[in-house]
Amino acid sequence: MAVINEKSVSEAIHYRRSVRVFKSEAIDEQKVKECIQLAALAPTSSNMQLWEFYHIVSPETIQQIAAASFNQNAAKTAQQIVVVAARKDLWKKRLQSNIDHLKSQFGNKPESEYSKREKFALNYYQKIVPSLYIDFLGILGMIKYIAFQIIGIFRPIYRESRVSDMRIVAHKSAGLASENFMISMAAIGYDTCPMEGFDSLRIKKIIDLPMSSEINMIIGCGIREDNGVYGERFRVPFEEIYFKI
Ligand SMILES: Cc1cc2nc3c(=O)[nH]c(=O)nc-3n(C[C@H](O)[C@H](O)[C@H](O)COP(=O)(O)O)c2cc1C
Repeated sequence: MAVINEKSVSEAIHYRRSVRVFKSEAIDEQKVKECIQLAALAPTSSNMQLWEFYHIVSPETIQQIAAASFNQNAAKTAQQIVVVAARKDLWKKRLQSNIDHLKSQFGNKPESEYSKREKFALNYYQKIVPSLYIDFLGILGMIKYIAFQIIGIFRPIYRESRVSDMRIVAHKSAGLASENFMISMAAIGYDTCPMEGFDSLRIKKIIDLPMSSEINMIIGCGIREDNGVYGERFRVPFEEIYFKI
């Protein structure tokens, strides 16, 4: 992304605030799209990329989203909106993309010629990842969870395998992408406000998202108005949250 005078990472982190009132000045659609491309470079669990980004530029749709977000200023005054969706439901598709990618990296040779490392990587996506994501009405997940707790008495084991755990896995990664997006926006002097105060069902209907998807957050975008930031930044004392071990 060729941007002149882009802020450093720490400058952008300090500049980013949750902005509740945006100027009526338009922002560049292409630049926002480039920030979404940077968002998609965030790390994801098993590189599954269980996310989607909906870039809303239509003023009518923005107002519909604002109405479904309880008419929050941050949505109502946004020049553009980005909806970050967690798509745990796409796990089989993303899994296949990873397998296809690995095979293409390995040179599409017969599996018998794979090195140990290549076999390990493929086995990870063909056996381990599906064993975590596969479920049936939450029952399989619960059975796996109990089995893992028992095995865990004897050796270290990955314990989070319930439906709710896998939802968290998808949302964690989507949250990282959201932050990448907001910092990228801050770096070019654009402002954002992350929101979880909305009616998810209505939002899904507005942007035609399937019921199996989940909205990670809605991000209002624009340029801050003078009164756009509500007060000084507040954080609890660092000593309360920092533990050196
Ligand atoms: C997941 C998440 C959801 C949020 N939801 C809302 C929201 O619905 N409305 C809002 O005005 N701010 C929302 N915020 C913004 C927070 O209130 C804000 O990040 C916090 O007060 C710290 O301020 P700062 O972002 O300016 O540092 C949300 C932030 C996050 C991370």
